[in-house]
Amino acid sequence: MDMYESGVGSRVVQIDTPSLLVDLDVFEANLARMSEFLRQGSTKLRPHSKSNKCPVIAQKQVAAGAIGICCQKLGEAEVMASHGIRDILITNQIVGPIKIARLMAVARGCDLKVAVDNPGNVDALAEAASAARLRLGVVIEVNVGMNRCGVLPGEPTVELARHIMRRPSLQFRGLMGYEGHCVDLPDFQERKTQTEKAMALLVQTRDAVQAANIEVDIVSGGGTGTYMITGRYPGITEIEAGSYVFMDTTYRQALTDFDNSLTVLSTVISRPANNRVVLDCGVKTLAGDYGTPAIEGVRPALSCGLSEEHSTWVYDSNMQDLAVGDKVRVIPAHCCATINLHDRLFAVRREVVEDIWEIAGCGKTR
Ligand SMILES: Cc1ncc(COP(=O)(O)O)c(C=O)c1O
Repeated sequence: MDMYESGVGSRVVQIDTPSLLVDLDVFEANLARMSEFLRQGSTKLRPHSKSNKCPVIAQKQVAAGAIGICCQKLGEAEVMASHGIRDILITNQIVGPIKIARLMAVARGCDLKVAVDNPGNVDALAEAASAARLRLGVVIEVNVGMNRCGVLPGEPTVELARHIMRRPSLQFRGLMGYEGHCVDLPDFQERKTQTEKAMALLVQTRDAVQAANIEVDIVSGGGTGTYMITGRYPGITEIEAGSYVFMDTTYRQALTDFDNSLTVLSTVISRPANNRVVLDCGVKTLAGDYGTPAIEGVRPALSCGLSEEHSTWVYDSNMQDLAVGDKVRVIPAHCCATINLHDRLFAVRREVVEDIWEIAGCGKTR
């Protein structure tokens, strides 16, 4: 830390901007709310760490009852395993010899499971696991309607499960089917109907695999917007929600069970017109892939335009509340993509920095 940086014990106003903050009271309440939901049912939580990329947060989630974590990228899994997370599901395909060699190194140190949806990839994983003298856990990703990756439900999944069972260096662990097309449907009844349809496909596919005498241990799905549906759907063993710890403006439109804990502390750097406010956070510090961010405690803007290092907020009339030099907190429109733009997170409680957490998975996109 250099002389211009704020440390533990500093007040939020002393932190230079743009910086990422997590409000600990809100964060802890979000963690507790999810734990309470899971305590009342039989489904477990394996939170997605793509949302935080932060080993301290993963450790807190495990301490609060999570059975392990999900990762989207191998680089995230490497970081988490090296910080003591012992049970990891990579909900993504790991393809190509360079990555598969790294995957074996991670598998040596923890209970690792990786998603597959292709027989050639299964063969490559099996050969590498055999050469490394280990047994690699795999789950089949089933396409439950999102139409991203995944094998079709039913017989095509049973066929791939049989293929895996012929490979002794692989351990077939079960199925995952992420209903990403449902998680932010604005109408709750519609979200429930579509999610149940997706989970019915997944559970019916489990039945078909079991009917082929293949044991299915894991049946995984669920995001923050569907945790209350998928997390109570009979047959689902674990849910993958991750954003619930932070939330963002987009998710808050679909769900108010959790509150916004993540903000980008920013400075007003220009007031070029009465109705225009310019902050020092742009797409290099605040994700701009979708949605509209919001300034906490300030009336909604007509528009927010993001350039690399600026955000330009236009109001319907004179905006008297903000002057050059003021610091504000911006709630991201997408927490997971915003976290990847920062390498540390100021953990604050009632305006004081209580801790600084490394976002060790920042930029780990390989
Ligand atoms: C495979 C997978 N599982 C789970 C999630 C759920 O994450 P969230 O909590 O952001 O809804 C995602 C989000 O993109 C995902 O890709």
